[in-house]
Amino acid sequence: MNNAIDYINTNRDRFLDELKAYLAIPSVSSAPEHRHDMQRCAEWTAAQMRDIGLHDVAVSQTAGHPVVYGEWLGAPGAPTILVYGHYDVQPVDPIDLWTSPPFEATVRDGDLYARGAADDKGQVFMHLKAVEAHMKTNGRLPANIKMMIEGEEEVGSDHLDGFIRAEKERLACDVVVISDTPMFARGVPSICYGLRGLAYFQIDLRGTKSDLHSGSFGGAVVNPALALAQVLTQMKDRSGRIRIPGFYDDVRPLTEQEREEYKRLPFDEKQYRKELGAPRLFGETGYTTLERTWARPTFDVNGLLSGFTGEGSKTVIPATAMAKVSMRLVPNQDPDKIAALFEAYVRKVTPKTVELKVTRMHGGKPWMTDLDNRFIQATGRAIEQGFGKRAVFTREGGSIPIVSTFQEQLNAPSVLFGIGLPDENSHAPNEFLNLDNFYGGVLTSAFLYNEIGASTGPAA
Ligand code: BES
Ligand code: MN
Ligand code: MN
Repeated sequence: MNNAIDYINTNRDRFLDELKAYLAIPSVSSAPEHRHDMQRCAEWTAAQMRDIGLHDVAVSQTAGHPVVYGEWLGAPGAPTILVYGHYDVQPVDPIDLWTSPPFEATVRDGDLYARGAADDKGQVFMHLKAVEAHMKTNGRLPANIKMMIEGEEEVGSDHLDGFIRAEKERLACDVVVISDTPMFARGVPSICYGLRGLAYFQIDLRGTKSDLHSGSFGGAVVNPALALAQVLTQMKDRSGRIRIPGFYDDVRPLTEQEREEYKRLPFDEKQYRKELGAPRLFGETGYTTLERTWARPTFDVNGLLSGFTGEGSKTVIPATAMAKVSMRLVPNQDPDKIAALFEAYVRKVTPKTVELKVTRMHGGKPWMTDLDNRFIQATGRAIEQGFGKRAVFTREGGSIPIVSTFQEQLNAPSVLFGIGLPDENSHAPNEFLNLDNFYGGVLTSAFLYNEIGASTGPAA
């Protein structure tokens, strides 16, 4: 093990150069013009897997973007780890707000700035380098490792479910390790034991067949923009509670122990508010900010479109109004059931003066795991060795829909060990990865394979 650690410490600069090359590929999964870059990025990932000594490396085409797979199964009797991550990234707009170009990774103040630096190429690369360190120094890994890196996480992992179902045997494992979450704060390495789910919709309202002169027709027909605003204000009451009937029926309440533990985490609400630039925080009455973002469901408007928004003024009644809305779900809410409740409620509160169309977009189940499982304990020990600190346990408000598929299809628990930061600007301009966390993460991952390799006993 010491050899692997030395290897990591002496190859830091090369790791950084290679990571910069990885980040230079604009693997934006939602943009058709980057289709070719997606293929290129998948192939870059596969070439890395081959270089570090994984076997049976393959770039598998799907109906969407390719999945990259590689494995090393030379430790019979030892546990098998499936490392999952994604090589696709979010779009970069608004591009003007980036201090340095998003696909020219740049170090400033110990942070590496680029799209995908934290979410999730940097964290995928961390595992690649941890595997490399073991393979190049010992010629073997302390556990069996399978790596599956997909290209559609940021667009809902639409084709990964099918891939996993079809490749169930090849993907069989004892545990899934995922590094795609932030740590709680700088210097506070974390293990995440819960994620929220997602249900996403588009609402379209139409009032008339075309836009109208607001002088000639104003007063005679409904204004769809106003009707949409009225629909949306029905979604939440003043205490921040969602008004969709039945919405909270399956919400698993926070335990007293969880509430106590969240209170002990180093969270400064005033600082949080300031960093967000919000005049005040707002959320469901009776819950703290951490409880609201980790363990309570939400309803959000993601975008609104209607009428004239250019410079100056135009006297018009828009024909249509559109909103993109989404709900973050918590255990044990089911996205299908929530979708049915939501659609019925939207129908009920939409005035008869407009035509309504509700389109369901991507979704995913929430996820949560017990803490008393041997893989989580192994991760805790690895973090202590890699970061020299005890890990805290967190939940997160974001979603990784495929995690519940791993449990259902592979019958394997997941461990979420991420080294991003809460202020990493993922999905926003100036995304960055802290390099100390990156190197600490490579060390921790190398220790983690050891700890899992040596662990025995039942998963749960
Ligand atoms: N890495 C994030 C998930 C995440 C974000 C976990 C923050 C914990 C905290 C992932 O890449 C992501 O962005 N997921 C999407 C899922 C959606 C596109 C189905 C999300 O949460 O919006
Ligand atoms: Mn991610
Ligand atoms: Mn993301």
